Amino acid sequence: MEQSFCASVPLKRLVVVGLGLIGASFAKGIRDAGLASEVVGVDLSSQACERAVELGIADRCTTDLAEACVGADVIMLAVPVLALKQLLTQLAALKLEHTIITDAGSVKGHLLAAAQAAFGHLPPLLVLGHPIAGSERSGVEAVNPELFKHHKVILTPHADTDPNAVLCVEKLWQDLGADVESMSVEQHDRVLAATSHLPHLLAFGLVDSLAKRSENLEIFRYAAGGFRDFTRIAGSDPVMWHDIFLANRQAVLEQLDQYRDDLDVLRQAIAEEDGRHLLGVFTRARVAREHFSTILAQRAYVKTMLDNDLVFLARPGGQVNGTIRVPGDKSISHRAIMLGSLANGVTEVEGFLEGEDALATIQAFRDMGVVIEGPEKGRVVVHGVGLHGLQQPPGPIYVGNSGTTMRLLSGILAGQTFDTTLTGDASLSKRPMNRIAKPLREMGAVIETAAEGRPPLTLRGGQRLTGMHYDMPMASAQVKSCLLLAGMYASGETSVTEPAPTRDHTERMLGGFGYPVEVHGATAKIEANHQLTGTHIEVPADISSAAFFMVAASIAPDSELVLQHVGINPTRTGIIDILKLMGADLSLERVHEVGGELVADIRVRSARLKGIDIPLDLVPLAIDEFPVLFIAAACAEGRTVLRGAEELRVKESDRIQVMVDGLTTLGVDAQGTPDGIIIQGGPMGGGEVWAHGDHRIAMSFSVAALRATAPIRIHDSVHVATSFPNFLELCKQVGMHVAEEGQV
Ligand code: S3P
Repeated sequence: MEQSFCASVPLKRLVVVGLGLIGASFAKGIRDAGLASEVVGVDLSSQACERAVELGIADRCTTDLAEACVGADVIMLAVPVLALKQLLTQLAALKLEHTIITDAGSVKGHLLAAAQAAFGHLPPLLVLGHPIAGSERSGVEAVNPELFKHHKVILTPHADTDPNAVLCVEKLWQDLGADVESMSVEQHDRVLAATSHLPHLLAFGLVDSLAKRSENLEIFRYAAGGFRDFTRIAGSDPVMWHDIFLANRQAVLEQLDQYRDDLDVLRQAIAEEDGRHLLGVFTRARVAREHFSTILAQRAYVKTMLDNDLVFLARPGGQVNGTIRVPGDKSISHRAIMLGSLANGVTEVEGFLEGEDALATIQAFRDMGVVIEGPEKGRVVVHGVGLHGLQQPPGPIYVGNSGTTMRLLSGILAGQTFDTTLTGDASLSKRPMNRIAKPLREMGAVIETAAEGRPPLTLRGGQRLTGMHYDMPMASAQVKSCLLLAGMYASGETSVTEPAPTRDHTERMLGGFGYPVEVHGATAKIEANHQLTGTHIEVPADISSAAFFMVAASIAPDSELVLQHVGINPTRTGIIDILKLMGADLSLERVHEVGGELVADIRVRSARLKGIDIPLDLVPLAIDEFPVLFIAAACAEGRTVLRGAEELRVKESDRIQVMVDGLTTLGVDAQGTPDGIIIQGGPMGGGEVWAHGDHRIAMSFSVAALRATAPIRIHDSVHVATSFPNFLELCKQVGMHVAEEGQV
């Protein structure tokens, strides 16, 4: 066969040895797709052979291995794992120098050793593979050419594998609709021992254990859905699984021992009526199962961003009417989990933001042993462990896209007895962390960062922190909060002075938990040796999310919208003041206080906006709302100038540059300056813009479409879920024409 094999699909001949579920499905998939001129089946059972031809699985089928294999392009071995050894010896004798041999077995280390023994070396055209696509059904009758669609196939090439051969096998699987990944043989066997082999062992073991009890009839009679779900895989092929456990003995034993230890702990918790432990295990397991790929693999947030270019398609025009409540405040949601976890007693949170950022904070504290129930329709129950009750997490804490989690958590972690590493997604990994690392180090923390103070951060435990006074060089609530939280673990007083007022949720909420914080003008002061006491928190709707709709209803004609129960903490209302200065028609209704935070319903009507010079003192009070304010400016008459906002360059994206780029594409005259932007209001067209992984950019351009003359395609919008998971639903509800592309 030529090296250019991949180009020469269809193959002349594909041989599939073993016509069980996997082999038959592979053969039929390839045959149906016309990827081989001839598909030849080999099976020890002449009956299976006959059926295979009848079912259209193979063009012909034989029990004679040599006859089928000599001259084949590719041979797929799909026999039970322990049968592979003998098969490889037979194949070695055939001297198939130009034939790719691949397999579908569940254990790779064993096969590699068998190949070495059979061939005397590892053949370059041997490509080990494993489709993660079994089923409890087995045999040729179970054939399903669609079996591999959207399933993973793991290839474990050895050091001498010919890369062309790997490409070929990869292509065949991809043509069957599978997602192909590769990993080392050792990693494969370890991962599969945990995720596949161990559950099968438990299922077989449990059914057998129950079946052999004298009262088994009774037990099985009452066995309902739970039993059936759990034990479905005990219907799998016994020979195949017998082989797998013998072949992957070592890795399975390691997993089994670990699991046995955990089971003992569960047993003890039941015996000792330790409900908290049980609740901890069950709540963690439930979430882990729901977010299998995102949380367990600790990479899916990144993967989502890399793999999915989620495009929002915003069609021009529309009015904005109705009454809506946007999701809970992100800043307050983070803090509720953090302080609730460090409190003594239980904290009940309502209105919690179920966005990815706040969920990342929940997961971080779960990783550190805190039992957190929910979120369930915005309700979360945090079983606090006290200021010194956190436990070392099992691995690095992954906080996704969330700068607030990373920065605030660092203040807490600097004061713990254990080491922790914090990692984030691609956007967060570019953001500056020296702003917290530097002052924390001055307090005695030991922190390692990547180059230029970027994440990941490793915080060394067991340090003595000393309180200090810090004059913040930038107006940042995250830095202020980080240091105040560290101050709970530092000797003496810790105080922070800010150059301009920033959001004060941390100070307010610490007070709500009974922890004293003194605030005098621009300085907040805290000291150690106090306690947090569990409390009730009602999270208001996020003014930063409401901002998109404030601008939407202002710029769209004939609009009137009520935004309910929005948090109007005075450190957050810059958006309202700026919009009013621009001539917006906004009024606050039902202003009242809930749990130390002011809330109101905000009524917005269409208005003719005019450009303004944004007052400097309002900048920190509207720091997250500028992307959408730039859209308001683009729709306003005249020029809007923003200065003193260099912080925008280090948010989830460089919000000045990214907005200038997008606005320019839409035909708006927008110029970036080092610390701001100058926008000349005027007509707006459509086009392709990029959100650069920044939720607020994607939502801002969605709003822009209300006044655009052509559709706006907004690339890279997946991160909207970090702060505003139901954004598109609410857009639709009020009359905006924005949706995921393909779903319009
Ligand atoms: C936040 C503070 C702000 C804001 C961020 C949330 C907080 O950041 O941009 O979205 O919850 O403390 P800086 O304080 O760094 O400006």
